[in-house]
Amino acid sequence: MDSKANSPAKKRLVIGMSGASGAVLGIILLQILKENPQWETHLIISGGAEQIIAQETGYHLKEVTNLADKFYDIKNIGAGLASGTFKTEGMIIIPCSMKTVAGLAGGYSDNLLLRAADVTLKERRKLVILPRETPLSVIHLRNMLTLAQSGVITLPPMVTYYHQPQSIEDMNRHLAGKVLDLFGIEMPGFKRWGETL
Ligand SMILES: Cc1cc2nc3c(=O)[nH]c(=O)nc-3n(C[C@H](O)[C@H](O)[C@H](O)COP(=O)(O)O)c2cc1C
Repeated sequence: MDSKANSPAKKRLVIGMSGASGAVLGIILLQILKENPQWETHLIISGGAEQIIAQETGYHLKEVTNLADKFYDIKNIGAGLASGTFKTEGMIIIPCSMKTVAGLAGGYSDNLLLRAADVTLKERRKLVILPRETPLSVIHLRNMLTLAQSGVITLPPMVTYYHQPQSIEDMNRHLAGKVLDLFGIEMPGFKRWGETL
C-alpha cells in the first residue's frame, strides 16, 4: 500500500474483478481512479478473472494489482473488507460473472470478493455490478432480479453509441464513466447527453 492509502481523508472504494469476459473494463476503471487523489481503491481479483486478464488483455496481473492502493488475496476472508466496521463508500464488481452473481444472490460468501459484496449489502452501502453473459438463462435473470430487489445497481456492460465512439476504447471509457458517475466521481472527458453533444 502506498502513502496515498494512509490518509483517512480518502474515500474508499472496493473493486472486485470476477471471471467474466471484459476484464479490460476493470483495468480502465482502476486506471481512472488511480489519477483521482480523493479516492482509495481496494482490489480483489478472482482466479477466473486472473485467467481472463491473461487471455483477453496484454496486462500482467502485477500491472493490474499495482493500479490499486491495496490488493487482497481472495482467500483472505479475515481481511478488513470482510467486516462492516471497515468503512467504505461501496463496491463495484467489474466485470461480474454469473457465478459471482449466483453467490451474491444466495448469500454464499465463500471468498473475500463475495464476502466484501455481502458486507456492502448488509451495511446498506452502494453495490454496483457489471454482469456479463450472453444469452442469459432464466437462472441468471432470476438471480439478477433478486439482487436488484436487494438494492444492487445492475449495470450490464452494454455498448453505447450516443457519444459517437471512435473506438472500443471510447466505448469502454464511457462505460467506466457511467459507473463512476454512480459514486459522484467525474471521469475526465465524460460526455453527457444534452450537455457536451
Ligand atoms: C475466457 C473465459 C471467459 C469467460 N467468460 C464468462 C462470462 O462472460 N460470463 C460468465 O458468467 N462466466 C464466464 N466465464 C466462466 C467463469 O469464469 C467461471 O464460471 C468462474 O468459475 C467464475 O468464478 P468467479 O466468479 O469466482 O470468477 C469465462 C471463463 C473463461 C475462461
